[in-house]
Amino acid sequence: MPLSRSLSMSSLSGLPLWEEDDLPVENLLLFEVAWEVTNKVGGIYTVIQTKAKITVDEWGENFFMMGPYYEHNFKTQVEQCDPPIAAIKVAMDSLINSGCQVYFGRWLIEGSPYVILFDIGSAAWNLDRWKGDLWDACSIGLPYHDREANDSLILGSLIAWFFKELKCYDDTSYFWSFDSFNLDKEAGERQIYHRCCLERAAVHCAHVFTTVSQITAVEANHMLHRNPDVVTPNGLNVKKFSAMHEFQNLHSTNKTQIQEFVRGHFYGHLDFNLEKTLFFFIAGRYEFSNKGADIFLESLSRLNYLLRVHKSDVTVVAFFIMPAKTNNFNVETLKGQAVRKQLWDTAQFAKEKFGKRLYEALLRGEIPDMNKILDRDDFTIMKRAIFATQRHTLPPVTTHNMLDDSTDQILANVRRIGLFNSRNDRVKIIFHPEFLSSTSPLLPMDYEEFVRGCHLGVFPSYYEPWGYTPGECTVMGIPSVTTNLSGFGCFMEEHVSDPAAYGIYIVDRRFRSADESCNQLTKFLFSFCQQSRRQRIIQRNRTERLSDLLDWRYLGRFYMHARHLALSRSFPDKFKMDPTATPPTEGFRYPRPPSVPPSPSASLHSTPHHSDEEDEEEDEEPYDEDDEAERDRQNIKVPFTLAPVPRRKKKQP
Ligand code: UDP
Ligand code: G6P
Repeated sequence: MPLSRSLSMSSLSGLPLWEEDDLPVENLLLFEVAWEVTNKVGGIYTVIQTKAKITVDEWGENFFMMGPYYEHNFKTQVEQCDPPIAAIKVAMDSLINSGCQVYFGRWLIEGSPYVILFDIGSAAWNLDRWKGDLWDACSIGLPYHDREANDSLILGSLIAWFFKELKCYDDTSYFWSFDSFNLDKEAGERQIYHRCCLERAAVHCAHVFTTVSQITAVEANHMLHRNPDVVTPNGLNVKKFSAMHEFQNLHSTNKTQIQEFVRGHFYGHLDFNLEKTLFFFIAGRYEFSNKGADIFLESLSRLNYLLRVHKSDVTVVAFFIMPAKTNNFNVETLKGQAVRKQLWDTAQFAKEKFGKRLYEALLRGEIPDMNKILDRDDFTIMKRAIFATQRHTLPPVTTHNMLDDSTDQILANVRRIGLFNSRNDRVKIIFHPEFLSSTSPLLPMDYEEFVRGCHLGVFPSYYEPWGYTPGECTVMGIPSVTTNLSGFGCFMEEHVSDPAAYGIYIVDRRFRSADESCNQLTKFLFSFCQQSRRQRIIQRNRTERLSDLLDWRYLGRFYMHARHLALSRSFPDKFKMDPTATPPTEGFRYPRPPSVPPSPSASLHSTPHHSDEEDEEEDEEPYDEDDEAERDRQNIKVPFTLAPVPRRKKKQP
């Protein structure tokens, strides 16, 4: 790439300055290969080590140094972490799956550049082949006894191989590999060829082929070479409350329970206002990248920065509910709840005593001296209780003893981004590596209660055929984040005109790079934090209004259509169906709420009545937005076509 440079006339400390056009580094990756990356032999080490910082300053996260892996160097100089770019991980995995060892981390020198290190020994079995390639390419032969030359050839060949894999990857598109994807080969390597054959046979034999979502339809088309006849989205059995605001009350009572848990967990560090604390969560099977826990963590780190620089008084507690191997709850976490309970008991004890003495004084016709109403012993008890809240450790990130603490992906990334629940952090993290249960001694809530008590579910999945979790949030009136790589997200994009206005934030993970998706997610989270309580209440009402769309009573019709189609194909004489007719399931789009301003930027935050001041008194009354709901209903002039699936008439006896 040509660089245009010009010598500036201005100078700094007598030195001339170079002025140059900025490179669009955000779209480029820079690799620097050297034998002495993390491997000190002599002066070259000093060159690359000292030069790293200015390169990182220019290229940031897009700069990677490559060199040989030596265990001792790695342990003493490198902090292992996951590659920030999916393409790099995929290219590394490709080498690793072929038996070569490749390591990734941050080199602990000024600038902390990323390093990709290749284990020469693990790839030595290729040496003869690569010597042959070298001979074919330039007629240079390497003698077997020249160890240094041989090792350099192995490193060079590994890096060439890595680049070849990297080139196959187009990071801007999820379906990067389908064209070059050899399904049989990939299945064979994973020892699931027989399963693949079964699936393909079933798909091609079926009278009617269905998939759960548009995203799996595209996948099936590429992988199994058949387009689904009908997409049959997953539904839920929506519980309707007779009272309009029952679900808002449930949010409030369940939030109180989560607040109690947080009081215990952060004992001694409770210097944030729980009334200004938002609860975010991610939940589901522990598939770190598929479920998007990776970009959630990265976005939380960016959110923490934004909240701090904007001096926000909002605190976010982000829960990770993903089961991992554990050895039960950890002592520090249990202690937190015990301390909270003890403070509660102490307060109750003092309250009783205070009340009794006050009552007796009033009976005597006296207003007691408030300073004397509690005696020395009472104060001693209270002081002792306060002393018990002192702690010398930070509130723990995880609630359990992890079996694989050092290699766990969530914990490794928490260490990398440094969100350790310290006082200055506006974002706190609690990793609960077990599904929730109402019988838990720690957080006695079942999953549904927990979801209701939270403010935002965050499910930025990279691979998700459907993904129930955001839909479950929706029917409970809790806003959520989803993606256009999840079945649910695609469904919402198709059937709702302005999903964000209804509290469904869809991150673009299909056509954007991981870093761009991460920025988008951070924006969603930050703007959510800027909403007032009133705005959150209104948004929850809107979210809940989408419930009908997810109800089996509506979505059941897609299955109904698929069954009719199967019958008409199997028994065309008995069951007629116009093959050209549009399925009765297509075409519906839920209109945007009319009270949202038509500008897309305004609807992004879903802020119907922007108020800078948070009026606590008024906000306690959720009833005033009934008007808004009613106005919306009346203004939506389209007929409400989400009628339940028609019931078959019973035959007359
Ligand atoms: N879930 C649960 N308890 C928890 C967390 C999650 O029962 O503590 C359930 C949640 O209700 C959802 C399911 O786990 O129904 C996850 O389903 P999803 O479709 O989101 O992901 P999948 O497991 O299919 O990848
Ligand atoms: C529900 C309750 C309100 C409460 C509100 C808190 O709407 O009905 O009484 O004020 O939740 O909302 P927040 O988003 O601050 O948790």
